[in-house]
Amino acid sequence: MTTATNTCIVGLTWGDEAKGKIVDILSAEHDVVVRYNGGNNAGHTVAFDDRTHKLHLVPSGLFHPEVTCVIGGGLVIDPQVLLEEIRTNESLAKGLRDRLLISDRAHTIWPWHKKIEALSEKHLGKGKIGTTLRGIGPAYADKANRVTAVRMGEFLRPEHLKPKVERIVRQKNEVFTKVFDDEPLDPAAVWEEYAAYGEQLRPMIADTTAWLHQAIADGRRILFEGAQGTLLDIDHGTYPYVTSSSASAAGVWTGTGVSPRAIDQIWGVVKAYTTRVGEGPFPTELTGPIGDQIREQGNEYGTTTGRPRRCGWLDAFAIRYAAALNGLDGIVITLLDVLGGLPELAICTGYLVDGKPLEAFPADPTLLPQAEPVLERLEPWPDDISGARTFDDLPPAAQAYVHRVEELVGAPVRMISIGPDREQTIRRD
Ligand code: IMP
Repeated sequence: MTTATNTCIVGLTWGDEAKGKIVDILSAEHDVVVRYNGGNNAGHTVAFDDRTHKLHLVPSGLFHPEVTCVIGGGLVIDPQVLLEEIRTNESLAKGLRDRLLISDRAHTIWPWHKKIEALSEKHLGKGKIGTTLRGIGPAYADKANRVTAVRMGEFLRPEHLKPKVERIVRQKNEVFTKVFDDEPLDPAAVWEEYAAYGEQLRPMIADTTAWLHQAIADGRRILFEGAQGTLLDIDHGTYPYVTSSSASAAGVWTGTGVSPRAIDQIWGVVKAYTTRVGEGPFPTELTGPIGDQIREQGNEYGTTTGRPRRCGWLDAFAIRYAAALNGLDGIVITLLDVLGGLPELAICTGYLVDGKPLEAFPADPTLLPQAEPVLERLEPWPDDISGARTFDDLPPAAQAYVHRVEELVGAPVRMISIGPDREQTIRRD
């Protein structure tokens, strides 16, 4: 059991590390769960009582009735999706509307964001980023642009927001019609629809920065829930094939207003292998039968888009870089059970470019596609380990695998997940 007060859970690779389950478990040891980045490009899965729940915006602590859920200012929120998610989950997430706070500083996603993204990705063709098409990038671009952005707090002043939205739609329509030769949006219809969403979300909109400062002063334990993963971070990830938010632990400060000095421990989550969805370099990708076997055994299909995920060996070289960026206190390995029964097993310990080892994870986007992984072979295990409940229950080969990850990444493994259910978890903290 963790005794730390404030914990950050962050993905170390390209997202989909099964962080939702870990956040759900750790929620029982915290009073508040806060999302700090991204939007409904995220897909967090929580499973209990033989049911699976897919979340995109509401923090994964929602099923714990005593936990307050906070959506921080670092997010971009699609109001329609958020309302739908609240509606879908409120029968099991008791009293959710009374314990969900939405930052007045969070930005919003509108129909023009989704439309421009679809047009842009189509226009790019083979050179596309392979985004989730949820309007995330265009919403963050408008945030930086300022004059075409809307924050959640503006729904509290609809009389000011209405003319602003109509102005933005007219401006965006110039681009749709003149640049892309496409249909314009109807400003009145957009406003009518979104004003209704704003009205319903209004009671939950709050100054969450001030609220969190008070919660910390009161000694409440906060769990910060990262979305996506460090290698998708806008600044530190595999740019330009990244998302548009701070998906590393760096996002906690900007995305919640809480000082990094208030975080007691940072745990990085990795799968026992590595996956990536969308375009972009992936040095340890397995395009043959072993990659297919991992995809099928791990059910590696996107929670948000349903796209098949690209699968490969655990990339300890990239993860070591991510660990250094985040300053890890511990690692959580998920889906270790999926490796059971593979005919071979390997971990990537470094990259070779032109036969020479790279000293550091590269920023140059032309280097990664050429990187040849240096693979260390490990002994596979045939067993189904999903019934293990302690580290000693694991076969020696699986234990050796975990120890090797600790050595290569340079941090202790605190938790191991060997199945989707809460009980299928081994604690080592
Ligand atoms: P965007 O976040 O929709 O702009 O997509 C940018 C890149 O990030 C694409 O490669 C997406 O597939 C990837 N991405 C975004 N969110 C997630 C996620 O939650 N898990 C995995 N990949 C993601």
